[in-house]
Formats: sequence, structure tokens, C-alpha cells
Amino acid sequence: MTETATKSIASNKSEYINQIFAQIAKHYDLLNNLMTMRFHLKWKKDAIDMAIKENKHIFKALDLCTGTGDLALFIHKKVKNAQIICIDNCHQMIDITKKRLDNINSPTFELIKADCENLRFNNSSFDLITIGFGLRNLINREKCLTDSYDFLAPEGVFACIDLGHPVNPLWKSIYGFYFYKIIPLLGFVFARNKEAYTYLADSLSGWYKQDELKEILIKIGFKKVYYKNILGGAVAIHIAVK
Ligand SMILES: C[S@@+](CC[C@H](N)C(=O)[O-])C[C@H]1O[C@@H](n2cnc3c(N)ncnc32)[C@H](O)[C@@H]1O
Repeated sequence: MTETATKSIASNKSEYINQIFAQIAKHYDLLNNLMTMRFHLKWKKDAIDMAIKENKHIFKALDLCTGTGDLALFIHKKVKNAQIICIDNCHQMIDITKKRLDNINSPTFELIKADCENLRFNNSSFDLITIGFGLRNLINREKCLTDSYDFLAPEGVFACIDLGHPVNPLWKSIYGFYFYKIIPLLGFVFARNKEAYTYLADSLSGWYKQDELKEILIKIGFKKVYYKNILGGAVAIHIAVK
């Protein structure tokens, strides 16, 4: 395949993903709360706690694929004066997040519409970089990861929370059933959008297994990398220290 054809497929896929998030933005928080019985908030808080344990000196943080800003808000709660830059490329998500962050009325947030695969920050600019349920959606994930490494200051922490691959076969089939059957149904009932929530299940194929992501982070150069499985590996939090 020619380079132009590869680029064109990637750009179509990225537009498709952008459309999916544009369609679900309005119902995003509601569906997350329903799908996880609000546990996603606890998991996100745990991810921030784990990251801050590794680096207590957080002055500047970057939240990639910020969506409605949950991780950014948890960072703010923990480190009141940290400057937090939030990035998302979907303007419908950005609009919702803007209102949410405006309510906090803190000058510490900066919300930028940009592509996380094409970011330009100076090296060593951040003490913490987070990405929640976002890396899986990127076409060029390794670029985002190597960029994150470069953007982090020494001792800086990268924290990723995302879906995982359960190891236990029985749990894996229950998980598959939930993602392929129940979630699209919830999407249809509550957001009138079965396709968008079928994408969520599809996004799992080709997504890194927990050990794979750990190995990639080590290969990139992070000196301490580990992960914590949640719900038998249905969700995983990866922490990587530069
Ligand atoms: C599943 S949501 C996660 C939102 C939030 N981080 C959370 O944990 O709830 C994924 C977000 O990534 C954004 N996104 C997807 N691809 C992106 C890209 N290439 N650049 C920036 N944002 C992207 C989507 O618009 C969406 O808001």
C-alpha cells in the first residue's frame, strides 16, 4: 500500500472516531455512570492517586483525550495550584467540558482543541501526563506515548487508565458479552445510538494487552513501569515514571 493510501485510511478512521464522540458527547457522562455504576470515577481517582504517589511535585499537568474532564478535575482536587492543560479534538466534548471547568472557576485549567497524535510542546514541560480511555482510540498510539515521554520532565509521571483484557477465560467471555451485547443496548436505550456503543466493543480488538503496553512504555525509556488491574483486568491503570 502506498504512503498516501495509508494516510487516507488513517484520516478516515480518525474522522470516524471523531464523529462517534461528537454524537455521544451529550450522553457521555450519563452512559459512563450507567455502564460502570459510577465506578469509573473511583478508578480515575485511583489513577491520579497512584500517579501522585510517584511524583509529589506536580506544577504542570497535561490531560490527553480529556473528554468531559474527569481526570483533570481529580488532578485539580489533589493539587490545587497545578496548571492543567486539557486536550481533546472533539468540539462537542470541549463545549461540555468548558462549561464544567468554568463552574470550578479556577484559572488553572486551559482547554485546547487539538489532535493528541500531533502535539507540540517543549520537551520536559510537564510533571504529569494523563490519558483516560483515550489511548485505545488513537491511530498512532506509539507516537502519543513517545511524545508524552519527551514532554515529561525527569521524574515526571505518565498515567493511563483504559479498558484491559481479562485473563480468566470465563470472566473474559462475560466481559465480551457485556461489551458486545449489553453496552450497545444501553447506548440505544439511553442515547438512541447503538452504532457508537458498538464501536466501544470494536475498539477492543487490536488494543494492547496490559503487558504489551507495559513493554512499550519500558522500550520508550520510562524507568519504572507497572500496572494495576481492576475488576480482573476489565480495566487497567498503567503508571510510568520517566
Ligand atoms: C472515551 S473518551 C475519554 C474521555 C475521558 N478522558 C474519560 O476518561 O472519561 C475519549 C476522548 O478522546 C477524544 N479523542 C479521540 N481521539 C482523539 C485525538 N486523536 N486527539 C484528541 N482527542 C481525541 C475523544 O473526543 C473523546 O473525548
